Amino acid sequence: MSSPVPVSDPSRAVTQHRDELTAAMGAVLDSGFYIMGQQHGGFEAEFAELLGVQHVIGVANGTDALELALLSVGCERGDRVITAANAGGYATAACLKLGAQPYYVDVDEASLLLTESGLAAAFNALPAPPRAVIVTHLYGAMADVAAIATLCRRYEVALIEDCAQAAGARLDGRCAGSFGDVGTFSFYPTKNLGALGDGGAVCTNEPGRAEQLKKLRQYGWGSKYDAVIPAGRNSRLDELQAAVLRTRIPRLDADNERRRGIHDQYSRAVKDGPLRMVHQSDSSFVSHLAVVLATDRTAARSALHQAGVRTDVHYPTPDHRQKISSDRLSALRLPVTEWAAEHVFTVPCFPELCDEEIARVCDALSAL
Ligand SMILES: Cc1ncc(COP(=O)(O)O)c(C=O)c1O
Repeated sequence: MSSPVPVSDPSRAVTQHRDELTAAMGAVLDSGFYIMGQQHGGFEAEFAELLGVQHVIGVANGTDALELALLSVGCERGDRVITAANAGGYATAACLKLGAQPYYVDVDEASLLLTESGLAAAFNALPAPPRAVIVTHLYGAMADVAAIATLCRRYEVALIEDCAQAAGARLDGRCAGSFGDVGTFSFYPTKNLGALGDGGAVCTNEPGRAEQLKKLRQYGWGSKYDAVIPAGRNSRLDELQAAVLRTRIPRLDADNERRRGIHDQYSRAVKDGPLRMVHQSDSSFVSHLAVVLATDRTAARSALHQAGVRTDVHYPTPDHRQKISSDRLSALRLPVTEWAAEHVFTVPCFPELCDEEIARVCDALSAL
């Protein structure tokens, strides 16, 4: 029996491109610059070009990116930030770190994403507009972010796009991250654009905000040893990760195409009824995760396990049901979010899956 199909395996991309990675890392070792050298600057410029934005600011990881994005839109202790409760808790962690108050809005039943109408209803229900909205392009699927951006502008609410799972996704030709005031990215190794360690970035089209973010990521410095704004800290993308990411930017679109192709095959294999694939395949979807909704998740996962297909759950506990929030939010009901947390599961989807593995997942899905 061949080995099980893993949910993810970043070591395969390393094996495929080992020489290129070794050369890129070797160049860093030889350069004598290990923090914010040429690789870092090159990465920021090349990623900005791919995204079609004016500024990319490298930071240490995707959670810092969210926290710095919130600071850059003026978020302070006690401010309300609207977000979804089904996206792994990263936005919540960033809000709580700043003393801001996450305000959860339920997601759409079909897409599992925040919608313009859901946000408009929340704006109208609140006594005052929130400081910001964080929209997560969950599983690699873009929310209707053009409409959401228009709504946010009308209410003078800052819009932050969490693009950690959606690097390279495009809606009407525009990349995720280019619609809001700020876009945030994680380069965790399994992401569509993954590093070989932690990494993150923030993007924006506003020069003043870009300058502020550069200060915030480095001690509040305007220039070396000259602290000009409070709330600065150390959150830099290191030179080795920047070099690794630069080797991967040119392949991102092709990798995303491959992910979409795999997802398409799964969609055809899944019989509607007891199972449903969460997203469809157009360029606004980069299939970071292939997520299935199952009437009986336990039975479906166990049948896949028997067939040699590993699965996972993204995410088992909605934010308002986490221990850190459940006392305060025990009365809050988010029916779609809560239902999805009990029914979603993730099947393997990454560019380096081989055709035999994809066929095995398809066969196992179609047998359910
Ligand atoms: C949607 C989303 N936002 C934020 C993060 C946080 O990124 P990091 O792990 O780099 O802090 C992740 C994943 O890790 C994520 O999937």
